[in-house]
Amino acid sequence: MLTRSFFAPLLVLLLLSVSNANSVQDTGCSLKSSTQKIVFVLDNYGARGDGKHDDTQALARAWNAACSSSRPAVLLVPKGKTYLLKAITLSGPCKSNIVFKVKGSLIAPSSMSAWSENDRRRWIFLQRVTGLTVNGGGTINGNGEMWWKNSCKTNKVLPCKEAPTALSFHLCNSLKVDNLKIVNSQQMHVSVQDCSNVHLARLTITAPGTSPNTDGIHITHSKYVQVRDCLIRTGDDCVSIENGTHNLHVTRVVCGPGHGISIGSLGDHESRAEVSRIYIDTVRLYGTTNGARIKTWQGGSGYAKDIVFQNMIMDNVQNPIIIDQNYCDSAKPCTKNQKSAVEVRNVVFKNIRGTTISRDAINLSCSKDLPCSGIALENIDLNLEGGKGGTESTCQNARWKKFGNVVPLPCKGKK
Ligand SMILES: *[C@@H]1O[C@H](CO)[C@@H](O)[C@H](O)[C@H]1NC(C)=O
Ligand SMILES: *[C@@H]1O[C@H](CO)[C@@H](O)[C@H](O)[C@H]1NC(C)=O
Repeated sequence: MLTRSFFAPLLVLLLLSVSNANSVQDTGCSLKSSTQKIVFVLDNYGARGDGKHDDTQALARAWNAACSSSRPAVLLVPKGKTYLLKAITLSGPCKSNIVFKVKGSLIAPSSMSAWSENDRRRWIFLQRVTGLTVNGGGTINGNGEMWWKNSCKTNKVLPCKEAPTALSFHLCNSLKVDNLKIVNSQQMHVSVQDCSNVHLARLTITAPGTSPNTDGIHITHSKYVQVRDCLIRTGDDCVSIENGTHNLHVTRVVCGPGHGISIGSLGDHESRAEVSRIYIDTVRLYGTTNGARIKTWQGGSGYAKDIVFQNMIMDNVQNPIIIDQNYCDSAKPCTKNQKSAVEVRNVVFKNIRGTTISRDAINLSCSKDLPCSGIALENIDLNLEGGKGGTESTCQNARWKKFGNVVPLPCKGKK
């Protein structure tokens, strides 16, 4: 049986942490415990915080002041107020460590015309900062409804165009993002690119299940990244792990709705991809399209290796365990005899149980020329939802081993 209480401790923790953090830090800022830090309050740089006037320039000024402080700085977004921000880039290097403490709300303009036609990819963009912490228990609201309505995924006659990522980190080392709510992003919610030594914790990320391309956390070209104690309900991947990610630990995460935990797509346009040492541990998925997925394009090269998906509980997931090493689409139709593929090697699926809405609970669809190797399936119990019966598995060109009980029996289904 599934224990619904499995994640109750996490939820309690999330709630407690929000209230604790607020009260401790309210006093913390003005008390001695943070003597060494200078606090730069956004309101002192001309921000109105009424949700109507544009506070973008005020934030830019406050950031510049904090970033040039030789003492460790806190850039404070006060509680109880809402700051309207257009696209903004906050750049380092800074003279000292910075805490960007968001206690109030940051909100994006609702209208797409606030972005220039040729730069629509970002909303809040932080780059080249070492020793940055973003926390505070506040809300970052992408106000993305207009973007979703005008997405080519929603309205097929519209051209496909880029849409902003709510919160992007680029070239940041020693980054902590903790205790924030990130909601209704225009597109991706949080992106980590070209960063190292990253801790993302206690993030609540939500957008409607129907909102297009609203990935929760997107990681690429980054190493030594931890994601823990997050609740992610969106319209796309819960966590998407892309090219150049190494040493990633994802633990105690709740997902759904959305597309689940996904490595890839890797190797599109015949490119090289490198992903390794990925640990996904203790994840609860509700009604997601995929559970544990690895997806690579036909014709790519490189590898996705040394990957563990373990301790996952799934509720009504469509494709609980899926490797698709032969991905292709109408823009680039599949060919039978692909010469090249992204190697998929040493992948463990362990302690995974729950329910699926499609019969095919395990699908290992690998390339003929470069079969998936070192696949371990251990203690798996996946059944059709509503007690509707057993499940099946399909495998092509996969070299696997089974440990313990595995339901469905691997690779016994139709070819
Ligand atoms: C993927 O990452 C590798 C190494 O980090 C790099 O050589 C390659 O160009 C990247 N591919 C793409 C499509 O960016
Ligand atoms: C398995 O996955 C492959 C690739 O996504 C797909 O083409 C195939 O239909 C799937 N098989 C089943 C039985 O679902």
